[in-house]
Amino acid sequence: MRTKIVAGNWKMNNDLYSSINLISHIKNELNKNKFETKIIICPPFTSLETASTLLKGSSIFLGAQNMYCEESGAFTGEISPLMLKSVGCEYVVLGHSERRTIFQESNQLVNQKIRAAVKYSLKPIFCIGETLKEREQNKTFDVIEKQIREGLEGFNENELGNLIIAYEPVWAIGTGRNASPEQAQEVHKFIRKLIEKIFSSTFAENLIIQYGGSVKPENSKDLMSQPDIDGALVGGACLKSDSFLKIIESAE
Ligand code: 13P
Repeated sequence: MRTKIVAGNWKMNNDLYSSINLISHIKNELNKNKFETKIIICPPFTSLETASTLLKGSSIFLGAQNMYCEESGAFTGEISPLMLKSVGCEYVVLGHSERRTIFQESNQLVNQKIRAAVKYSLKPIFCIGETLKEREQNKTFDVIEKQIREGLEGFNENELGNLIIAYEPVWAIGTGRNASPEQAQEVHKFIRKLIEKIFSSTFAENLIIQYGGSVKPENSKDLMSQPDIDGALVGGACLKSDSFLKIIESAE
């Protein structure tokens, strides 16, 4: 049995003050119930240290939204895995489509970042997904396969014990148009089969594959009841504690 994981990717939202506010609301709501689902929040870099302090003693885990693949050095504006560890991060989102499209991150760079995450014991949430054009041209499975093969090239399964894959169709991100549960399940199943081919059936069977792209309380239950969907990577709907909590409840 795989435990469901719901992660909130805050993207470039919330300054320090509003981060403190949102975290205390989430904590208050979560205190009312016990959840089996694992919960992660990924605030912006500037709120991570404070978030880590506020989350002490809670059951919420902390993640970053990106990092660079080097430990230190002349990489102006970048953040290293060691820096993330020093402020209490356990997870890191890598290869998000916004990084790939706006900041031209390649599969090769994402591969190096996953390598760095593994080296410094950060748990990677490795994002993949096709654009609308690629889907319309029936290239979805080719794109996903290439992203996975190149992103995970050179790894063995023992190194990837903490890997999470997030399938986020680019056309569903921030558009309000989620993939249908059937569309998402079809790709998740393909991902698990591919992982089985590259690694092993046990590894594939245990791998957490989250869905992301316009997840909201109205669709989260249907999406997460699919056999190969093990949770959600939530954008817009994680910025309000009540909708984030409803999504977590629907994962239970
Ligand atoms: P939305 O939920 O806002 O579509 O964003 C999804 C996402 O990109 C999470 O990483």
